[in-house]
Amino acid sequence: MSTASDTLSESTPAPAPPPSDLLDRLVSLGKQRGFFYQSSEIYGGINALYDYGPLGTRVRRNIRNRWWRSTVELRDDVEGIETSIIMNPQVWVASGHVAGFSDPLVDCTGSCRRRWRADHLPAERAARGRAPDAPGCPECGGDLTEPRQFNLMFRTFLGPVEDTSAQAYLRPETAQGMFVDFKSVLTSSRQRVPFGIAQNGKSFRNEISPGNSIFRTREFEQMEMEFFCEPGTDDHWFDYWRAERFRWYVEELGVRSSRLRLRDHEPDELAHYAKAATDVEYLYPFGWGELEGIANRTDFDLTAHQTASGVDLTYLDPVSGRRYIPYVVEPAAGVDRIMLTVLIDAYDEEEVRGERRVVMRMHPDVAPVQVAVLPLSKKEELTGPARELEHRLRPHFATEYDETQSIGRRYRRQDEIGTPLAVTFDFDSLEDHAVTIRERDGMTQVRVPVEGLEGALRDELARFRERTAARARGGSAG
Ligand code: GAP
Repeated sequence: MSTASDTLSESTPAPAPPPSDLLDRLVSLGKQRGFFYQSSEIYGGINALYDYGPLGTRVRRNIRNRWWRSTVELRDDVEGIETSIIMNPQVWVASGHVAGFSDPLVDCTGSCRRRWRADHLPAERAARGRAPDAPGCPECGGDLTEPRQFNLMFRTFLGPVEDTSAQAYLRPETAQGMFVDFKSVLTSSRQRVPFGIAQNGKSFRNEISPGNSIFRTREFEQMEMEFFCEPGTDDHWFDYWRAERFRWYVEELGVRSSRLRLRDHEPDELAHYAKAATDVEYLYPFGWGELEGIANRTDFDLTAHQTASGVDLTYLDPVSGRRYIPYVVEPAAGVDRIMLTVLIDAYDEEEVRGERRVVMRMHPDVAPVQVAVLPLSKKEELTGPARELEHRLRPHFATEYDETQSIGRRYRRQDEIGTPLAVTFDFDSLEDHAVTIRERDGMTQVRVPVEGLEGALRDELARFRERTAARARGGSAG
């Protein structure tokens, strides 16, 4: 099992980052195969907003389901909820977002007139081959204005009158829903502290410098869990969730540990609510970046909401008789960013019999298709039974039926979208009632009777899961 100690130490050789042009290759594959593309594309798109196609939607659903299953369903101590995107605006005053959820913005007064996040300037300069601490605009070298704070929350109005009394916000994080519903969940469930409340859903931030495709967008989906615990036990739970979230990426998504690390925040980086924070970082083609944040939010949020709402948010421990405001440890992840990470991590190219093969070595439970059913030819005597076979498998696996093009090209397409297993129905199948299972990574083939196909596929997928996790732990393959 991987733990926090699997992160890089000084003695570990630095991992090789994915090739720098991989993001471009993925963006074009994403569009071609239907993973993701610009929103409103027929109108020229819209900055930092994306749509997910049929395959991308399946991958996102798989990621979300795996998170929900391990964070909520398989645990006794976490409840799942869904709260509204637009909340009472007082929530955002109490949480500190109205006053403080802002980024420092600077404008170029030179030739390019671009707008930058002041804290991103060194990285933006480095990305353009300039010295990180050189003065001026990263793009054109022109003068920059003094930084001014820019609030990232999207504003809207409830009802027909657009004045400040009707002003509301699109949530910039799902977390506040869990804080303001803390008391309701406590009284309506049978939970006792320590316990968690989780939800996933859309969040919105008017990012100043979105970019790197779906890594930083203005509308995105979060998966967050607030774990309420007794003050004094918070360090323990912080360490627990730090290790658990690292494990999840390796064991359950198959992300290779050699490209993951846990990075503790320096005191001057900490958010206003946090006593400690650690990012799970991934080595992207553009360098190390945050994949998920784990924070010890102390009693900051519940105290703030108790003060602002006047509602008692303390907890009375039935055993010790102690009354307190619980501390909170929060693992906060983003579906879009995980999807990008999974695609980057799975992407591989190799030469097979003189031809380039693109293969997505995705975890079989994250891949959009688990089993493709392919008749060898388009002849009706094969397509009829192959279709029937696919219908029989459909309730048990994520399947796809494909009879277009040559069998070789169909295998390549399945490799490109990460399908672990392909079942081929050929002319012999009509006689011997057997089919060929071809697996994605080694391209090995086995002949199995149609009768026991479902079981054989299950066994193959189980072996796939083990291999994927072993690869992720060792970080060697691919
Ligand atoms: N409740 C704490 C919180 O929201 P965060 O680090 O700002 O913390 C958590 O966000 C996660 O949400 C990030 O690690 C990332 O995966 C995702 N996320 C945040 N902003 C994003 C953006 N603009 N685009 C895509 N994902 C984003």
